[in-house]
Amino acid sequence: MVNPRFEVDPEDLSLLQTLTGISSREELEEHIIAVQNKANRIHNYPCIGLFVFTKFNIKLSPNYHQVLSLIDTHKDAIFLDVGCCVGNALRKVVTDGWPVENTIGIDLSKEFWDLGHEMFRSTPESFPAGFVGGDIFDDVILAPTIGRSDDSNFIPNLERVNLRNLTSLAPLRHRVSAIYVCNVFHLFHAEKQLDLARRLASLLTRQSGSVIFGSHGVAPAQLAVTNVGPNSFHSAESFASMWATLFEADSVEISWKVKVRPRKKLSVLGEWDIIWWSVTCK
Ligand SMILES: C[S@@+](CC[C@H](N)C(=O)[O-])C[C@H]1O[C@@H](n2cnc3c(N)ncnc32)[C@H](O)[C@@H]1O
Repeated sequence: MVNPRFEVDPEDLSLLQTLTGISSREELEEHIIAVQNKANRIHNYPCIGLFVFTKFNIKLSPNYHQVLSLIDTHKDAIFLDVGCCVGNALRKVVTDGWPVENTIGIDLSKEFWDLGHEMFRSTPESFPAGFVGGDIFDDVILAPTIGRSDDSNFIPNLERVNLRNLTSLAPLRHRVSAIYVCNVFHLFHAEKQLDLARRLASLLTRQSGSVIFGSHGVAPAQLAVTNVGPNSFHSAESFASMWATLFEADSVEISWKVKVRPRKKLSVLGEWDIIWWSVTCK
């Protein structure tokens, strides 16, 4: 297979140039390829090979502007990126106005986060977003609560949290206004996807407009849940139904759009399309 080339749209190129301080296209490409090589040594996800970490795809979310407006309507609104990798989505929302001290990422690998500082030529001081290194399925990092009888009566502590000091997401239960999850759900089988959704739902504030949203691979419409190796692709409908089981009837709006890919196969993953989805509190 021919290696994919580093290609970004003009808007993303310009932001990469601003954030890295590298204006020459050639120099930037060299820098990005060096980062890609290091990222592949941490874990060679297909999206690293496809340069997804250099794109600010969060802007493609159909509700991106609605999400950004939460800064104005929710006091001290917190933005969480789950499986944040090098932190490209967080850089984009901060560029678009979300206060950096109210943003936080979680990733299994702190090495990806550190590589993000190298890629964007920042430091924890110049880009002081919070970061939790750990497994989202580890109950110490985030215990599942939805479905427990005490959850609907839970009253969150609304004192301001210093996200930089967090080593777990537990203090953020029912505190997060926007949770972004991109290219993560399809890494797990359906049962684990439900577990992940349950954990994330327990972090969401129930204020109107609070949202969990993202994008990942789904099985094409004619197929049901498809397991491929460790990956599992829900159909768009089954993914939406999964979310509906976690919230009281009529308390959230679940929407999705499928971007049909040309029928080309990516390595072992077979046929899949891309879903952009959101679960928004009414
Ligand atoms: C395929 S990459 C997607 C990265 C980024 N969200 C994007 O769209 O470019 C999946 C990311 O999720 C992280 N991840 C995988 N399993 C995880 C887990 N159990 N807990 C936390 N992060 C996890 C990986 O380390 C990796 O950075």
